Amino acid sequence: DVLSLLRRTNKQMDHFNYRNGQLYAEDVSVAEIAASVGTPFYVYSTATLVRHFQLFDDALDGMDHCICYAMKAASNQAILKTLGNLGAGMDVVSGGEYRRALSAGIPPEKVVFSGVGKTFEEITFALQNGIRQFNVESDSELEQISSIASSMNKIAPIAIRINPDVDAQTHEKIATGKAENKFGIPLSRAREVYSKASQMPGISIVGIDLHIGSQLTDLEPFKKAYQKLADLTQVLRQDGHNIKRLDLGGGLGIPYEKNQSAPPLPVEYGKMVKKVLGHLDCEIEIEPGRLIVGNAGILVSSVLGVKNGDNRNFLILDAAMNDLIRPAMYDAYHDIIPIKQLSLPEAVYDVVGPVCETGDTFAKKRTMPELSKNDLVAFRSAGAYGAVMSSEYNTRPLIPEVMVNTNKFSIIRKRPSYEEIIERDIIPDWLE
Ligand code: LLP
Repeated sequence: DVLSLLRRTNKQMDHFNYRNGQLYAEDVSVAEIAASVGTPFYVYSTATLVRHFQLFDDALDGMDHCICYAMKAASNQAILKTLGNLGAGMDVVSGGEYRRALSAGIPPEKVVFSGVGKTFEEITFALQNGIRQFNVESDSELEQISSIASSMNKIAPIAIRINPDVDAQTHEKIATGKAENKFGIPLSRAREVYSKASQMPGISIVGIDLHIGSQLTDLEPFKKAYQKLADLTQVLRQDGHNIKRLDLGGGLGIPYEKNQSAPPLPVEYGKMVKKVLGHLDCEIEIEPGRLIVGNAGILVSSVLGVKNGDNRNFLILDAAMNDLIRPAMYDAYHDIIPIKQLSLPEAVYDVVGPVCETGDTFAKKRTMPELSKNDLVAFRSAGAYGAVMSSEYNTRPLIPEVMVNTNKFSIIRKRPSYEEIIERDIIPDWLE
């Protein structure tokens, strides 16, 4: 049960640890999973998921709050259900995610619909089935939601996403809170847009939304943005709007590198939130993704071989950029550790996958224990934006996902057969 799980989980950051020289996911040997499932695959730890959810829940204790997990980070229904059982809501950004959340048993009144563009079908479906709120990103979207809702005799609860023009100091591809980014409406237009919204027949204003970026390692940008949000709340209330809910987005970062200074903890984030926004008597909504699931997942892969080049040794794995795109896309660092604990000798490798492009490189000049063919390795902190961003590039099947709970494990998404992949193509009759 959840309580005993919590007690058990208080001590460690995550639940991937060595025991007698073997990597374990909670009480399950990773090598054992590999033998049963085949590599590569993702493994998630229930205890880590629970712990991370609880850290946020505790951090906001004393404030009315809802933790809407940003399911784009990892959307397997087993993960959603694990979090849903603890009371989590979901932040969704597509009709697909919305359906997945409902299918995992998340009540629609805990589902927030975010995203910079929503289709007619997505808005209609969400209104039909119920929604906590739409986070609206433009005037035209506001008008569309109002007109769809009116035609259905419904009122759509909305928050407008404000772009606070704050530098999140993160990788440029995942910074979203600067004026030049495509997200939200500028702060300077907020009063005008809220006033428009208040006159629209299908709209009910419930709050304000923002999200300034992902993998933030400092509280200062959050604080700046939230101060602007606090000011705006008062201004909009003076204008007569019903601002009862503040959606603070996600974005709190996680430690990827051992020797890096650790980003602030949820408890520190929570303290800051209380200080900056606590006096407003609003319900606080947060949308964490990475911090919940990032360190709750690893990617396990086998060594296909070692190739010695000029001045370089290539460690060739059976996982590739299509399975974990983060290093290729954001130059992201992931710790790569052997499943069987090895000490010396060490070697320096370029760690690569088998895909036919140079970008299929996980790490350059990485010092690791010397490895050889068939050894297993794990990429740590691969739970967020791992499986969900994978593709079948090079006709490589999407890899399985496994979930561990204490001493049990279960496949939560199976590896498709080659037939399943190939039969999706349709040969036009003129080619028959
Ligand atoms: N809310 C909104 C509106 C978002 O756009 C995002 C992430 C989140 C919440 C969750 O942010 P988190 O707590 O996970 O930082 N693929 C990239 C990250 C993209 C983040 C997109 N938006 C990566 O692998 O680093």
